[in-house]
Formats: sequence, C-alpha cells, structure tokens
Amino acid sequence: MLKKNYPLTYSSWNEDEIEQINKVIKSNQFTYSKQVKNFEKIYSKYFGMKYGVMVNSGSSANLISIASLFYKKKNPLKRGDEVIVPAISWSTTYSPLQQYGLKLKFIDVDPETVNVDFIKLKKAITSKTKMIVAVNILGNPCNLSEIQNICKKKKIYFMEDNCESLGAKYKNKFTGTFGQINTMSFFFSHHISTIEGGMITTNDSELAEIMRSLRSHGWTRDIINKKKFGINKKRIYENYEFILPGYNVRPNEIYASVGISQLRKLKKFIDIRRKNFNLYQNIFKNNKIFNIQKEVGVSSAFSLIFIFKKKFSHLKEKIYSDLRDNNIQFRLITGGCFLKHPVKRYFNYSVFENVKNANYIHENGFFLGNAPVDLEDQIINFNKIIIKYY
Ligand SMILES: Cc1ncc(COP(=O)(O)O)c(C=O)c1O
Repeated sequence: MLKKNYPLTYSSWNEDEIEQINKVIKSNQFTYSKQVKNFEKIYSKYFGMKYGVMVNSGSSANLISIASLFYKKKNPLKRGDEVIVPAISWSTTYSPLQQYGLKLKFIDVDPETVNVDFIKLKKAITSKTKMIVAVNILGNPCNLSEIQNICKKKKIYFMEDNCESLGAKYKNKFTGTFGQINTMSFFFSHHISTIEGGMITTNDSELAEIMRSLRSHGWTRDIINKKKFGINKKRIYENYEFILPGYNVRPNEIYASVGISQLRKLKKFIDIRRKNFNLYQNIFKNNKIFNIQKEVGVSSAFSLIFIFKKKFSHLKEKIYSDLRDNNIQFRLITGGCFLKHPVKRYFNYSVFENVKNANYIHENGFFLGNAPVDLEDQIINFNKIIIKYY
C-alpha cells in the first residue's frame, strides 16, 4: 500500500537530541553559555569561516547582520543607501533593510533556478549601490562567486541569506561562505533544526564583535578582544556598559547543544534529501505540465518546486484540489514575490525593469516537502495523481 500522507515538514531529531537536551537540563545552565560558544566554534570550523555568532532565529541573524554594518568604523552603511535584493525571498530578508532605512532595488528572478537573475543584477548596479543581498532559494545556490567578485571590485557589501540552503555547494565551496556576512536558519524542518535558531558567519573580526554586542543588549560583556575594540576595561561598571543600541536575540543552551548534535548529521541528512531530489528530477524532467527547479552547483535540496507551464496553468485549481483530497501538503515558494504583499507600502523601493518571472512564480508555483527521510513512495504517489492530466 502506498503511503498517501505527504506533509511539508518532518522532524530530523532522534534520541541524540533528547539526550543533549537532558544534559543541559541536568547542568542547570540554560541561558547563553558554553554550549553556544562551543557550537559557534564547531560550526564556523565546519564551514571554514573565522567567526560564528549564534542567534535565536534566521530572522534575527538578518537583523543583527544589517545592524552591524551601520556600526562599522570605516565605511558604515547609512540610511538611504541602496541595496539590491531578489524579488523572491522571505519577509525577514527585507524587514531589517526597511527598519534601517535602506532603499531596496528589486531584481527579477531566473524562471528556471528561482534565484536572482544574475544578468539583470549586474545591469542594475550603479554608483549608488552599497550592498547586494543574495538569497539561495530552497537549497539552490546563486551565482555566488560571480557576485562576490563584482562586490569586491566595486567595494559593495555582500550578504548571503543562506537560511534555505545550508550545506549546498557552488564551485565546490559551501554556500553561506561567500558573503562578508552569511546568515543561516535552524528552524524546525530546515537542514538542521534547533527548534528555533540561527547563525551568522563572517571573517571580519570587527563585525563579529559588533554582532556579539548587538545580540546581547548592546553591552560590552561578550566582546572578546575588548582592547582591540577600544574598550577601556577600567571604565566598565560591573560588566554593565552599553555601547550600541542592541537587542536581546540570544539563543539558549538547549538550542546550541541540539545544534552540535544535528551538525554531525548534516551530511547524512543532505544525502537523503538529494536522493529524493534526484528522484523528483528524474520523474519530472520531461513532464508536460510543470517546470521544475534547475539545479545550480550542488543543491542541498530543501524542497521540490513545481511551476505550472503557461499552457497548463488552467489546471491549477483542479490539481490543488486533488492534492488536498490526497492529503498532500503544498505551499507558496518561499514568501513568493515580495512585491505582491501589502507590507510593501512601508518600504522605500524601486524595481529594476520588471519582476514578471517572480510574479508568475508567485501565481503559478508551489512546492512539496523534502526532508531527510525516504520520500520515494510520496513522490511516486504525487506523480500518479497528476499523471491523468498528461
Ligand atoms: C530566505 C530566508 N531568510 C530568512 C528566514 C528566516 O529564518 P527563521 O524562520 O529562522 O527566522 C527564512 C525562513 O525560513 C528564509 O527562508
């Protein structure tokens, strides 16, 4: 009998994670301490980056990252600076940019990869551009080294929002290592899960120190090299000196201890995800109804994307209804085209040329879940359901 139920998310935990949580409970140390610092070290080493700063979500990672660039000594970001962003991403890729008064320039996506259209991105850069935010959509890397090179040449900040693509590779190098700042999410169902959680990596020691302060109230306490950072220890009153308008977005010891356990399994998880992804590619590569996601580099296969071809978009409601009847969950691709959401009225933005691909994908695309479990039956069953429309 084929399994009919195909949810969007699956847990990747087993008794290892429970054991880690129990250890934290027994230690009686719940708030930010050794486990977080340990996870940051293990994590940054795994990805070949100098510094890791853990926070309580991928959204917080984006917030702290953008904020940190405003407090750099040299060449800080300023309100009104222009930032290039892709038209498809999650809301909290954009929110910190709005909150810090930046001007967004939206670029359309490539209809095959669903990532930012690199040709358009290149054309959109002007002397006003101060930063590019690249987002690797649903496991699939952007043209990261090309964007990195442009940013270096033009002295533009480069941030990689890698919240959906942990463990993917571009030109044999992990995503989330190309930007001056890279952000990750460990939300439930992501490549590794710490319940909620996120990480920022950077090779810039000044940015890492600023992030550590911003993460914890804006105080000096977590700055590692106080002297280098210009903090006179004598001035510090009982460890409570505030130097930046900070937040409290710290993770706790439970998140970090689970993160350590999950990171050990990342490769195995991605191998299983990729097996499902390869099956999806084999079954659907020549199908009549949908375009599927074209892989760039080595995808970490977050989800299985389907975009109705124009000729078959009239089947949308029928097929969605079939999926509901068969208990197959599906959803909007990432957050869809951001410009379709009412929240845009709060943003200072422009659109480079147009975002017709992003609009089309928003209206005609969906994804099915992928996870580190064998989904062969589920994927075959989905195909059986739609095959009658071929
Ligand atoms: C591209 C992108 N950025 C940021 C986030 C935010 O991550 P979190 O849910 O951990 O806050 C997400 C969420 O999945 C995302 O897809």
